[in-house]
Amino acid sequence: MPKLEQPVPVEVVGAGYYLPERVLTNADLERMVDTSDEWIVERTGIHERRIADDSMSTSDMAVLASQKALAHAGLAAEDVDMIIVATVTPDMLFPSTACLVQRGIEARNAFAFDISAACTGFIYALATAYTYLASGYIGNALVIGAEKLSAITDYKDRNTCVLFGDGAGAVVLKRTGRKGHGICDFILESDGRNAHWLQVPAGGSRMPASTKSIGERLHYISMEGREVFKFAVTAMKRTTVRIAERNSLKAEDITWLIPHQANKRIIDAAAEALGLDQRRIHYNIHKYGNMSAASTAVGLAEVMLHNNLQDGDILLLVAFGAGMTWGSLLIRW
Ligand code: ACO
Repeated sequence: MPKLEQPVPVEVVGAGYYLPERVLTNADLERMVDTSDEWIVERTGIHERRIADDSMSTSDMAVLASQKALAHAGLAAEDVDMIIVATVTPDMLFPSTACLVQRGIEARNAFAFDISAACTGFIYALATAYTYLASGYIGNALVIGAEKLSAITDYKDRNTCVLFGDGAGAVVLKRTGRKGHGICDFILESDGRNAHWLQVPAGGSRMPASTKSIGERLHYISMEGREVFKFAVTAMKRTTVRIAERNSLKAEDITWLIPHQANKRIIDAAAEALGLDQRRIHYNIHKYGNMSAASTAVGLAEVMLHNNLQDGDILLLVAFGAGMTWGSLLIRW
């Protein structure tokens, strides 16, 4: 995929996020499965994660994050042109979670759809929104990464249950006319050959819900952790270095690396490939765990809201996920 040669100025003009109040600590998990705080921290960097209560769905969290993003952008819900939700934990198989968000925030003039690219979903959604905006078809977009991973996590499986958390992040994109600012490049990649490394085997058309599928716990995340780890390190390094090189950026030019938060060791390997100072990496894995598409969405919102960004700052989002999918996206503030 070639570099965007003359990017149309599409900027991120508002951000918001929502995290459930309930905290699930490593000590809590020690009481649920055969694990230890020491193992989890050393192998993943995670100390705790947030878990939504039973009454709250992915779209509920997305609505709360979106309302904050719209308020931050100063945009009325009825003026939103398009809503994209990146998620692997939709409220239902259909309708789309984006349509439920549209109903929740009363964005009656928008069109809405979901994107399924797992943990890379928010980057795919930003890139998709960019192309709609750059073409002139719409003037603004609400882009959301939202997940209730606790709904598809097997709390009897120590290999996976220590990793995941719930949350939602949302941003508002606008065509602004400020040349040289906003989304200036992205790389989207996928390789379906290893789709089986990360999946929820049952509940779709291949294996509809049955007594057998429930008994065999096939509605939960199944993961070949070591394979995913090796793949992730290579993919994250490659996309990070490639997008930096083709935009003539050195490590010191990058203000914030906002990576997908699957494992601190994977993040550090990607940053190291670029020679990036650890202080330039935005981490939230220690407090939220892996929130799939919501990890980079919440990360971008946190950086925008709390890090006093200056004109010309460079933000680099990188992620990998089920599919397998991976990608990166560059924003010049
Ligand atoms: N507590 C204690 N021991 C554990 C735990 C646990 N929670 N989980 C696994 N172990 C054990 C294993 O059983 C294994 O024991 P064995 O040697 O006796 O077989 C040992 O620890 C080492 O296991 P590994 O899998 O080799 O551990 P590793 O260092 O690779 O870390 C991890 C495992 C954290 C899962 C790592 O492989 C990883 O991060 N993989 C990538 C995961 C990822 O990014 N997933 C994306 C999911 S996104 C989505 O699904 C939406």
